Amino acid sequence: MEPSPFELPADTVQRIASELRCHPADERVALRLDEEDELRHFREHFYIPKMQDLPPIDLSLVNKDENAIYFMGNSLGLQPKMVKTYLEEELDKWAKMGGYGHEVGKRPWITGDETIVGLMNDIVGANEKEIGLMNGLTVNLHLLLLSFFKPTPKRYKILLEAKAFPSDHYAIESQLQLHGLPIEESMRIIKPREGEETLRIEDILEVIDKEGDSIAVILFSGLHFYTGQLFNIPAITKAGQAKGCFVGFDLAHAVGNVELHLHDWGVDFACWCSYKYLNAGAGGLAGAFIHEKHAYTVKPALVGWFGHELSTRFKMDNKLQLIPGVNGFRISNPPILLVCSLHASLEIFRQATMKALRRKSILLTGYLEYMIKHYYSKDKADTRKPIVSIITPSRIEERGCQLTLTFSAPMTYVFQNLEKRGVVCDKREPDGIRVAPVPLYNSFHDVYKFINLLISVLDSAETKE
Ligand SMILES: Cc1ncc(COP(=O)(O)O)c(C=O)c1O
Repeated sequence: MEPSPFELPADTVQRIASELRCHPADERVALRLDEEDELRHFREHFYIPKMQDLPPIDLSLVNKDENAIYFMGNSLGLQPKMVKTYLEEELDKWAKMGGYGHEVGKRPWITGDETIVGLMNDIVGANEKEIGLMNGLTVNLHLLLLSFFKPTPKRYKILLEAKAFPSDHYAIESQLQLHGLPIEESMRIIKPREGEETLRIEDILEVIDKEGDSIAVILFSGLHFYTGQLFNIPAITKAGQAKGCFVGFDLAHAVGNVELHLHDWGVDFACWCSYKYLNAGAGGLAGAFIHEKHAYTVKPALVGWFGHELSTRFKMDNKLQLIPGVNGFRISNPPILLVCSLHASLEIFRQATMKALRRKSILLTGYLEYMIKHYYSKDKADTRKPIVSIITPSRIEERGCQLTLTFSAPMTYVFQNLEKRGVVCDKREPDGIRVAPVPLYNSFHDVYKFINLLISVLDSAETKE
């Protein structure tokens, strides 16, 4: 019954339906997919919110004791149950021994980040010395740009995708301002073609080829927050570096979602947050990557004492012995309470592995896509039927968990009525609803239930009109 690694999700759904002698949209297909899911027990490691606790819920429409359909792990991942235990361990240590906690226990506070950093290797595809856990995402982006963006009169642009996340956009603008560069000319934004939602790789590569000599840094998101498009990180990296650019990625929506091989791809630098697919809680400890090839050449512009080698850090002689690579970019001592929540989540990732998670994710999101297309593809014969369009690319290599949906019915109506029925997802301007089934804690049955709620919401939108 194991699907072949090359079986497309739609084929798996149809194969199971024919084995069960039912329609592919039948509930039994979802239940069978769950039965066959080897990762299903990981759901037990998380707190799944209950319907009754969701602020926008309408209790007349749901069973209050049921689990919500949480499809918002692309924004804030759910809480691993071990977070509380790990926090309590450190709070207890603090209560019982005060400052001695810096040096003893499972996570000595001085090296708290270092005790868990190895758990990130598989997730980003890098070795331990290339990964730093520190600060917030945008702070790390600034620290990296301060070192990698060294404009010259000939090479002064930063290349990025259209509608990049506002924080990235502002970070780039302010970095250009720091160097006194005109923003219009120096911020090279690639837009999708007229009438298209996502970027074509050939268009990205063409801009790099034509304008690469004037580009100092290419900064792309790994996976676009709005469209859900996964960019071809190795191809962009290779093309940019061939033109002499540094190539970096904001991996906020890619980390813990798709497989990454930052080291092997030769990416120059990257940063990410930990509160989305990494489930470390709001404002969690962010990450940064600098390829080891830059360990001795790219230095931090701003230095603090945690960039100093541990062996002599406490000599306090003010003679900097900088740690090579990204760990030299650490400025302050690690926030141990944030280390705890990330630790709890990364241990789950270690058990599950990114490879297996991605495999499930392809099928889970593929099942969602299959069901949406089944009910809501554009049917020219029936002009009254609501249409749901998926703006996320349909190619598996070009997306992660998330699908971004647009509707012929008013988006706010659809969103609010999903929320009332216990679907947790988010809306993003201009007109998208992002839904992200996460393989660690979402089930195929969640997708099935979501589709049925969507049907009832869209039916009610129709009768309202
Ligand atoms: C793509 C992207 N970049 C940057 C940020 C901002 O992150 P932070 O507030 O952690 O700096 C986010 C937040 O959601 C994001 O999605």
